[in-house]
Amino acid sequence: MAVSPTDPAVYCRAVTKSYVSGPTKVMALQGVDLEVRLGELLMLVGPSGCGKTTLISVVAGILDHDEGECLVFQEDLRAMGRNSKTLFRGQNVGFVFQAFNLLPTLTALENVSIPLLLLGLKKTEALSQAREMLERVGLADRLQSLPAQLSGGQAQRVAIARALVHRPRLIVCDEPTSALDAGTGQKVLEVFRGTALAEDRALIIVTHDNRIFNFADRIARMEDGRIVAVESQVAH
Ligand SMILES: Nc1ncnc2c1ncn2[C@@H]1O[C@H](COP(=O)(O)OP(=O)(O)O)[C@@H](O)[C@H]1O
Ligand SMILES: [Mg+2]
Repeated sequence: MAVSPTDPAVYCRAVTKSYVSGPTKVMALQGVDLEVRLGELLMLVGPSGCGKTTLISVVAGILDHDEGECLVFQEDLRAMGRNSKTLFRGQNVGFVFQAFNLLPTLTALENVSIPLLLLGLKKTEALSQAREMLERVGLADRLQSLPAQLSGGQAQRVAIARALVHRPRLIVCDEPTSALDAGTGQKVLEVFRGTALAEDRALIIVTHDNRIFNFADRIARMEDGRIVAVESQVAH
């Protein structure tokens, strides 16, 4: 479907999601309404357990929701077959997981090149673009390191580089600055704003880190599985 510039990048209406574990059912999302536009950096904040990771996993097509509507670039990911969903995500979505999810036997450079290899780039080209992205997050001297040889903050920046390297139109990050010191966190947010927003992409960043709130266009507050408030930042 053709996407017009005024269509939201992400459109959620009355989205619900529950987890059933044994006899208990947890209502993680209880009717989420949210829109995120191209060119926008939206931060998602709220207490632990309120549903932030669940929501961004639904938006990124990693989890299927139960009820309601969730469109990403006008596409309903839940309705897609497995192969088309994988292809759509590979082309359009970058995800930074809370636990980084780096492949332990691959170097930083190889980890970052994976999204490009999956899109069919030649290895030399993929490695060259991966190197450039690692340089942008300040890891030029760690290209050949394995994840176990990196500090938490370095591993986090490798995960961020991997989410940005294929220039996805939607970038979704779960607490991407939690392991970074203040200076590095600011630097990483500058990379996010630079690569993502200058090129008209949409970003959703889950964070508790009030040192980076000033980089947001809007801040959405979540409680008990719902978005309860969305505040615009005047600075942008
Ligand atoms: N895989 C799961 N199985 C069962 N319950 C889950 C699972 N993942 C999350 N939950 C529950 O869903 C709720 C929302 O979790 P989550 O989305 O991780 O919140 P947040 O990221 O805001 O901390 C919590 O009550 C959590 O315990
Ligand atoms: Mg979480």
